[in-house]
Amino acid sequence: MSHRSRKPYIAGNWKMNLDRARSLDLIKTVKGRLGDGGDREVAFFVPAIYLADVTAVAQGSPLGVGGQNIWYEANGAFTGELAARMLREVGADRVLVGHSERRHVFHEPDEWMGKKVRAALDSDLLPIYCVGETLEERKGNRTDRVLKKQLESGFEKIRPEDAHRLTVAYEPVWAIGTGETATLEQVDLAHRTIRKWCVQRVGEEAANLIRVLYGGSVKADNAKEIMAVDSVDGLLVGGASLQAETFLPIIEYDLR
Ligand code: PGA
Repeated sequence: MSHRSRKPYIAGNWKMNLDRARSLDLIKTVKGRLGDGGDREVAFFVPAIYLADVTAVAQGSPLGVGGQNIWYEANGAFTGELAARMLREVGADRVLVGHSERRHVFHEPDEWMGKKVRAALDSDLLPIYCVGETLEERKGNRTDRVLKKQLESGFEKIRPEDAHRLTVAYEPVWAIGTGETATLEQVDLAHRTIRKWCVQRVGEEAANLIRVLYGGSVKADNAKEIMAVDSVDGLLVGGASLQAETFLPIIEYDLR
């Protein structure tokens, strides 16, 4: 299956940035520009506290809106956490799982990932499951091993019939927010490793439905060349997704 048989997916992760007014402005601007957006999927992952307002503004457009994290239980004594069903209830249709900041700043272990991905799917949220090696792991030639271990945990409760709702994001930790992007060759190699692993895990037909995004210092200047890599199905963008001027050219990477 050629890579463009999978719809390109361009996602913005706001992290803990913007405020309510600027969030809504940005959604309005992008919504206005998207039209029917039929040939690409565009989504924002927003602070959970703004989800209800953002999804209300995004309504009637193809723009997807998601949360940045969930806990895997549906209820209970988990102070400060949010269940997948709660994000769904306020209009989110997707969620990030295992973002590198969750793993490295908040020390989320691999063991949680499979349950989080499962909880998202069971509450009708489309997960983007994030994987990626640290600089130390890359220098120690452990990239492949780390990616496979992370995939193993995230896919722990996945069945082949879940594949069409699943996206993986490859985000090398050393390229996130650093201005340093992986070389196209590094991106391609990691993406091929991920796809090969998916084929082994769920079979070729199901694996063909899983999109693999690249993230890590994506900007208007490099979006086109990264998207030209055959194994790349989309982009997960942090800093450059915070303003229309920097994000729209990434969404329209092929029109420049
Ligand atoms: P960045 O973040 O584009 O600012 O490097 C990417 C991400 O963390 O998803």
